[in-house]
Amino acid sequence: MTSSPLAHLDEQTQELLATIAKTTTLEALVEAEPALIGKRSILSTLQKSLGSLEPEDRRSAGALLQEARRVVEAALSERRAVLQREARSRQLERDRLDLGDVLDAQVSHPLSVGHPGLIAVTQRELEDVFVGMGFTVADGPEVESDWYNFEALNIPPAHPARDMWDTFYVELGDPETVVLRTHTSPTQIHLMEEAVAHGTLPIHSVMPGRCYRRDTPDASHLYSFHQIEGLVVDRGITFADLAGVIETFTRAYFGPDITSRLRPAYFPFTEPSAEFEVTCTICRGEGCRTCSHTGWIELGGSGMLDPVVLEAVGIDGEEWSGFAFGFGIDRCAQMRHQVSDMRALIENDTRFLEQIS
Ligand code: PHE
Repeated sequence: MTSSPLAHLDEQTQELLATIAKTTTLEALVEAEPALIGKRSILSTLQKSLGSLEPEDRRSAGALLQEARRVVEAALSERRAVLQREARSRQLERDRLDLGDVLDAQVSHPLSVGHPGLIAVTQRELEDVFVGMGFTVADGPEVESDWYNFEALNIPPAHPARDMWDTFYVELGDPETVVLRTHTSPTQIHLMEEAVAHGTLPIHSVMPGRCYRRDTPDASHLYSFHQIEGLVVDRGITFADLAGVIETFTRAYFGPDITSRLRPAYFPFTEPSAEFEVTCTICRGEGCRTCSHTGWIELGGSGMLDPVVLEAVGIDGEEWSGFAFGFGIDRCAQMRHQVSDMRALIENDTRFLEQIS
């Protein structure tokens, strides 16, 4: 068989295997493939030369050649798998994020995790007090129509009381004029309308939320602030219930040495109306600059629901009566935490915010 075309098959196969083993990248392997097992490869050339052999020799030579091809192909696919694995781990290595620096920075400057701001905390505390007294918590829109913010509350367009809540009106086309609500009282109307529609009177609810006024910010005013509205509609409600709720709230929220008082006032939607004041928490009633030496701080307004308002939402004033109150959440926060300037509440100065937890 010295004349056999396969005389050097072993060495040739070894050479192919060596070439495969030496290939170090996937690209090079792909490039080398035609030369290793393609039509012009040595194996294919040998295959063609078998035609010159006797049929019997041809069969055994064919088997040898087939085995050599199998070995080469197996080596090729094994090498391909190895190179693919290597390429993938190189990619992973490249993509790896080195967190060492971040961790080092954490140790020297711990990242601070935020917490709810003073207003959010105060709102939650106020809600808790009222929920403890049997009230539910409701919500209303911050953008209101003129009707909810004013007219349903007995404040017609030319009424002088509008001055108290004057604001920017956006005309969306007759009859709809909208405003950023100037108090939470419009939520009273929404709640009463809903209760009438669903037959769910009585109502005992508080409605906290953001309000807007055309005010220039100073130590005790912000153009955007928060109120919590209270509304009770039930049978046989009297002014004593209103005074009792206000006093119970005052002691529960500010502590037993702080008390409340109601002073006659005017609101178009309540009759009679009263301003709701609490002992100044700065001087504990002694008199100081914050309370203009009166010993009292005004928190908000209150009063018995005006029958006109009940009528506007379709509630029978003969059967039902009620009261409402509304006061500033920001003002409560200011009183309880002795914040001398309200503007600190919206300035996002972390030296201020970090004092709250
Ligand atoms: N909405 C009134 C204000 O913002 C306060 C108020 C609420 C008065 C409820 C009476 C009843 O000034």
